[in-house]
Amino acid sequence: MIGKFISFEGTEGSGKTSVIKEVKQYLEDKGYVVMITREPGGIRISEKIRQIILDVDHTEMDARTEALLFAASRRQHLIEKVRPALEEGKIILCDRFVDSSLVYQGIARDLGFDEVYQINKFAIEDTLPDLTLFVDVRPEVGLKRVFETPNREINRLDLEKINFHKKIYEGYLFLLDRFPKRIKRINGEAQIEEVAREAISAIEQIL
Ligand code: TMP
Repeated sequence: MIGKFISFEGTEGSGKTSVIKEVKQYLEDKGYVVMITREPGGIRISEKIRQIILDVDHTEMDARTEALLFAASRRQHLIEKVRPALEEGKIILCDRFVDSSLVYQGIARDLGFDEVYQINKFAIEDTLPDLTLFVDVRPEVGLKRVFETPNREINRLDLEKINFHKKIYEGYLFLLDRFPKRIKRINGEAQIEEVAREAISAIEQIL
């Protein structure tokens, strides 16, 4: 039995995490076995890599180092967690995957889309999500949410300037164009119930 691999993407404060929780509940109520995970992280080694990447003190981190660390974390997470769950027939809801690297490192950090895709192909081989949901929230709306949410972890990338976040948003629009079959846009600025409904209806088409 082969499961389904679904990733969620978006700018900072897009509300992906809340949408994922709602979707999980809905699918479980329907009798599916669902696993939530996230990148970078989800397992011991990748959570450690996550701490290195996102540490606010690591201001000297080189952009290529950052890209390689994300790819390394992705590889380990894929091998230890995603592929085994797929083989068990689970539905995997993954908070970010390869598209985050294409957009954040490839486009926003100007390392080049193709270059970053190359190192990621080495990491993921041929495993791509069956469906990727881009939770569309404009960057100024998302950042406002981030800084207004009490106790939310503010990471090194949250602290980048607004132009960086705008580049990320435009990067996602570019990816929507580049992978129209795999990536679907949902309106993240609607009420959470509505966003979850849109996500579920896209997911039901691939189940
Ligand atoms: P999160 O806030 O969604 O947990 O993501 C952590 C940060 O890492 C977020 O700012 C996006 C960034 N990121 C990348 O830059 N490249 C990647 O490949 C991934 C997975 C995340």
